[in-house]
Amino acid sequence: MKIPTKNLILTLFFILSTVCLIRLFRITLNIFSYSQHPPLLYTLMHQNTTLPDRIPHMSQRFAKYRSSAEEEPLSHKQYHLISDVISHRAPCNLLIFGLKAQLLDISKLNKGGTTIFLEDDAQKLRNRTLKTNAVQVYSVKYQDKASEAFELLKHAREHPECKPKARKLRESQCKLALTNLPNEIYRRRWDVVVIDGPRGDQPEAPGRMRAIYTAGMLARSGNSTDVFVHDTNHMIEKWYSWEFLCQENLVSSKGNLWHFQGKGGLSSASFCEGNASALSRNS
Ligand SMILES: *[C@@H]1O[C@H](CO)[C@@H](O)[C@H](O)[C@H]1NC(C)=O
Ligand SMILES: *[C@@H]1O[C@H](CO)[C@@H](O)[C@H](O)[C@H]1NC(C)=O
Ligand SMILES: *[C@@H]1O[C@H](CO)[C@@H](O)[C@H](O)[C@H]1NC(C)=O
Repeated sequence: MKIPTKNLILTLFFILSTVCLIRLFRITLNIFSYSQHPPLLYTLMHQNTTLPDRIPHMSQRFAKYRSSAEEEPLSHKQYHLISDVISHRAPCNLLIFGLKAQLLDISKLNKGGTTIFLEDDAQKLRNRTLKTNAVQVYSVKYQDKASEAFELLKHAREHPECKPKARKLRESQCKLALTNLPNEIYRRRWDVVVIDGPRGDQPEAPGRMRAIYTAGMLARSGNSTDVFVHDTNHMIEKWYSWEFLCQENLVSSKGNLWHFQGKGGLSSASFCEGNASALSRNS
């Protein structure tokens, strides 16, 4: 009787410690891959590197980065930053990517101006509360998944079609240009553009690549356009903002909300001023 009990306890002990070890190992792995993110990002953004070859692997990792499916609301300070600019410029032309209750509230400050919302989410487009509050909402389709962000950025750097002076946005051959929006979007000079959509929180979800590129192009044809980008703690938002809205145009920020002010000037060959941009372009 004595020996089997002892054996049983030993076996149990062995099994439990193995489980513990495996868990510990997994946690270590997670911490390791997490802590690698900032240096990698830093390297890519601050050095003369071309985009890495291991794109599929990396894109999966960065896309996972935004963990929660819940949309993060604007903080009190962020809300006020956008409100202040809009009330200062109203009545103005206000373009908003992402139909959200908070942005609807803010858009009411644009009395007498033109406000257009662009939304891709069918559920939001059906939502009566949201729809009846907005003056103009257009449905938009984003073909690209968040996981394609790296490839699209590479495409943009390699193709002259994506340069700001290439041709009109509407006729652009650049994969990042939104060319199927209502005419009005291309006709107007936009004073304020807010990017808080599409979701882009999963590799398979539509990402904000086109929204940010398009905002960059619109800002160039406008007259001192204020562009807000929300969720810039996430990689797509951060990278694309640096690339197409440019560090030299960043005038303020509150947490993960960045505020750019485009000077206009469609004629320049690149989005950002030479080497002043965080991402160098000599690939
Ligand atoms: C980046 O490239 C430019 C031009 O090719 C060069 O002058 C500069 O020294 C490079 N910077 C680094 C950090 O390698
Ligand atoms: C509609 O939108 C409002 C405001 O964002 C939200 O509170 C509500 O739950 C939504 N309704 C549906 C049916 O999704
Ligand atoms: C752009 O804005 C400035 C100052 O607000 C104004 O003086 C100028 O006439 C505007 N230009 C155009 C083309 O609207």
